[in-house]
Amino acid sequence: MSSPPPLVVDQVWKTYRSEAEELAVLRGTSLRLGAGESAAVTGASGSGKSTLLNLIGGLDQVDSGSILVGGVDVATLPERALAAFRRRLGLVFQFHHLLRDFTASENVQLPLLIGGAHRHAAGTRAAELIAAVGLTPHASRYPHQLSGGERQRVAIARALAAHPEVVLADEPTGNLDERNAGEVGDMLFGLAEQRGVTLLVVTHDRSLAARAQLHLHLEHGQLHVAGERSPP
Ligand SMILES: Nc1ncnc2c1ncn2[C@@H]1O[C@H](COP(=O)(O)OP(=O)(O)OP(=O)(O)O)[C@@H](O)[C@H]1O
Ligand SMILES: [Mg+2]
Repeated sequence: MSSPPPLVVDQVWKTYRSEAEELAVLRGTSLRLGAGESAAVTGASGSGKSTLLNLIGGLDQVDSGSILVGGVDVATLPERALAAFRRRLGLVFQFHHLLRDFTASENVQLPLLIGGAHRHAAGTRAAELIAAVGLTPHASRYPHQLSGGERQRVAIARALAAHPEVVLADEPTGNLDERNAGEVGDMLFGLAEQRGVTLLVVTHDRSLAARAQLHLHLEHGQLHVAGERSPP
């Protein structure tokens, strides 16, 4: 039997309600990504890109429709299973969200240790990933001792630590200058490709979007194909 696609978003609706107004942000959004595929989502500020990632990441709940990650319906997961699910999903944000009292290596190890990995295995895995993002000489540095681009590279290593099937990135280069943005983009797409990880990246950066196999544009609550290129 073939395994289920890593990511299926089917007819998702999401409305934010306050006393003053109702804002229908996602209106039947659909998306399907196979193993190792990459997609970039662009769209105007406020179009619902982060909302979509938060729903996929199990940080918020859909009003209707479904989101399947590795064949599992995120909405049906009980709290404990949801916590484990989130640990296995790789997340990269605009701001690195590294823990400042931990070294680069420790930041990469943490999701593994929390997930129950042995210290030695977590250390080995972190060393491998820190090397993959070219930061071996800086493995023992704290986040404040790293440049913005280096921090983002640690965040990528951390996102890949728990062998995720899917990595979600929300404006991963949004806080970087052009050169660093290019390097971080190369690393994110390169490592995902190399390791067969499915990658969904939200970005305002056109050159980053151009690296993805599929370029989607979010408008009026729906995703439209803006560009496609054949897999490498
Ligand atoms: N928790 C919330 N409660 C109410 N409204 C929200 C909430 N989160 C987001 N919104 C609104 O929903 C819309 C979509 O927000 P979202 O953060 O998904 O946009 P975005 O496409 O990621 O924008 P940006 O490119 O600026 O990051 C915005 O109008 C925002 O104000
Ligand atoms: Mg956003």
